[in-house]
Amino acid sequence: MLTEGQVVINERFGDEEQGLWRLVLKGPIAKTAQPGQFVAIQVQDSSISSFDPLLRRPISLAEISPDRDEITLLYRVAGRGTEILARARCGEQLSLMGPLGQGFSLPEEGELWLIAGGIGIFPLYALAQSVLARGLTVRLFWGGENQSFLASAGLFLWQALGIPLQLSTLDGSLGQKGLVTEQVQERLLQLFGQTKQEQPLSGGQISVATCGPAKMMQAVTKLGIEFQVPVEVSLEERMGCAVGACLGCVCTLIDEAGTLIHKKVCLDGPVFRGEEVVWDVSC
Ligand SMILES: Cc1cc2nc3c(=O)[nH]c(=O)nc-3n(C[C@H](O)[C@H](O)[C@H](O)COP(=O)(O)OP(=O)(O)OC[C@H]3O[C@@H](n4cnc5c(N)ncnc54)[C@H](O)[C@@H]3O)c2cc1C
Ligand code: FES
Repeated sequence: MLTEGQVVINERFGDEEQGLWRLVLKGPIAKTAQPGQFVAIQVQDSSISSFDPLLRRPISLAEISPDRDEITLLYRVAGRGTEILARARCGEQLSLMGPLGQGFSLPEEGELWLIAGGIGIFPLYALAQSVLARGLTVRLFWGGENQSFLASAGLFLWQALGIPLQLSTLDGSLGQKGLVTEQVQERLLQLFGQTKQEQPLSGGQISVATCGPAKMMQAVTKLGIEFQVPVEVSLEERMGCAVGACLGCVCTLIDEAGTLIHKKVCLDGPVFRGEEVVWDVSC
């Protein structure tokens, strides 16, 4: 699980003001990684001999290319760790733990809806590629602040996939003005009417994978329950060890008997069934 990745590309992704970066790493991890899993990457500054910052930073796998032994990470510079990461040079070997966690289920049939808020889009790209390679249909609902954000965060990659895209921005500069969940609800109502889904869609069923702000994933889960569509959510928690030892990332779930249980986002997640998450406690 402890491995290395050689930096092939580490460059700005989109407009400078968005602070997004694209890191391509070459290493054996690409052979076993699954969509929805993540790596915990060491971000210590190699130019000064120090263990600071001590904790590795968790970043999702945005693209997995086993044929080239490459993984792609898309990340936002949020603080000290990711600032150090943005300084990694081509050829440098980075220490990685991974692939970590439980990823998304890959549907066998039907249509997969990907629902993303902001940079929650990043882990969904690997999932889309994997599901499209199985010949299934994928539709993306993606909401962001404005046109500039969506363009910087990889809209062109999604356009190149040739799948239906339903975009939302808070300021209306691209797609529909408002929240992404409004578009999802409209589409569900178009397909199933005002009443709950009683029959599966002809030609296959819908399943949903979502990643983004907790409130958005909570709203998506609620729609999933209402329309009887299974929803998987990718939770984000601050992490310590990233391997299940420190209990730093515990979230609260409810099991089928209605009992509250605790699970570790790093080990048991980050992907869970939306309906098992106790949202107001977990996030
Ligand atoms: C499973 C998982 C997958 C992730 N995938 C990605 C990804 O693909 N791309 C990406 O850009 N980021 C991702 N993140 C978030 C990323 O790990 C944090 O932004 C990063 O660790 C921040 O480190 P830092 O030292 O730069 O900032 P810090 O100085 O540690 O923090 C800067 C700010 O970010 C907040 N923050 C730090 N960690 C988290 C976290 N885990 N969740 C929410 N807020 C946090 C802090 O509260 C603070 O406000 C993921 C997190 C998890 C748990
Ligand atoms: S981060 Fe340590 S148990 Fe999950």
